[in-house]
Amino acid sequence: MRTQVGIVGAGPAGLVLSHLLALAGIDSVVVESRSRDEIEQTIRAGVLEAGTVDLLTETGLGERLHREGRRHDGFELRFGGERHRIDLVGLTGRSVWLYPQHEVLSDLIAARLAAGADIRFAVTGTALRDLTTDRPVIAFTDADGTPVELRCDVVAGCDGSAGPSRGAVPASEGTLHVRRYPYGWFGILAEAPPSSSELVYAHSPRGFALISTRTPTVQRMYFQCDPQERVDDWSDEAVWAELQARVAGGGSTLEEGRIVQRGVIPMRSSVCEPMRYGRLFLAGDAAHTVPPTGAKGLNAAVADAHVLARAVESSYRTGSTALLDAYSATALRRVWRVQHFSWWMTSMLHTPADAHEFDLRRQLGELDLVTSSEAGRRLLAESYVGPPLVVGREG
Ligand code: PHB
Repeated sequence: MRTQVGIVGAGPAGLVLSHLLALAGIDSVVVESRSRDEIEQTIRAGVLEAGTVDLLTETGLGERLHREGRRHDGFELRFGGERHRIDLVGLTGRSVWLYPQHEVLSDLIAARLAAGADIRFAVTGTALRDLTTDRPVIAFTDADGTPVELRCDVVAGCDGSAGPSRGAVPASEGTLHVRRYPYGWFGILAEAPPSSSELVYAHSPRGFALISTRTPTVQRMYFQCDPQERVDDWSDEAVWAELQARVAGGGSTLEEGRIVQRGVIPMRSSVCEPMRYGRLFLAGDAAHTVPPTGAKGLNAAVADAHVLARAVESSYRTGSTALLDAYSATALRRVWRVQHFSWWMTSMLHTPADAHEFDLRRQLGELDLVTSSEAGRRLLAESYVGPPLVVGREG
């Protein structure tokens, strides 16, 4: 079997790439180990940056997002018993949208299949070969048990940090930068009315907490915990008491309800540099991961897909591989900014288990600095709504 671009992984990077390539008249085949149901039903967060929303809208994927998603014009930082609003629209002229990742993926899969795309779900044994030749191969076994060899011009590795693509880069050909944080996030879904119309990021001496939302009747909340924390060690009462203690202040109230789901999320940053090996181009989580604090994961994947699609298109149109050769450096410039932001939000808001009074006071000093000057608020707001899909050309 042959295609122009073989895409490993039907997550945000792989599906957006396949969609953008199709609009440019370029064929791709997407190979995915999960089933379609699993992808569409795994509930994931989704804070869509302004640039992500623009790209989805301009390429015909904005209809349900604008109907069912929610525009957020600001968010709140809560610390020292006070509430501070970051006015995204006032500071940047832009908003973010809350629209869960699995809904973005459902829309993408529906659009790709309607356009006749070849997406192979539930494949097994995916392996990448001949990556340093001009005819790389993706080998896999189809859902019906048929072995397939897919020969391509370019392979896009969009299969996350544990997929075969990242593993296909020999250790001698790249550097994997990893930063593990000594924190986890204890996340719950609760049947409760919203407590706030905007997201609340709270710093407290007991640790970080985040109040987010899913629907008018289901809320998403997190609090910083030990990465080894066992969710079953916590009664519902203890969870609510901890959340209440961490977000208290400024006359706010936190609405409680039945906890319908709970889990612990690890906190890790990683970057694989360069994002290329021969004809394999890494995008999204296969190339880099961020802790959830800045809500950047999906957006970083979409930005990579945009840069890679333009590079592939240019190579077919002009016969020059200049943009493909620049892909890693172009993408990494944005990646490292996003890495910085995710690390910054994490370190500014989380309290180490062994924190001294000095550390807490210093964090409060930083939060005060950021919220009390317009320059500070604007820096935070610009990063939160997201840098341009290609950085380096801002005015
Ligand atoms: C979420 O809704 O799950 C969420 C929102 C904002 C974040 C992280 C997660 O920064």
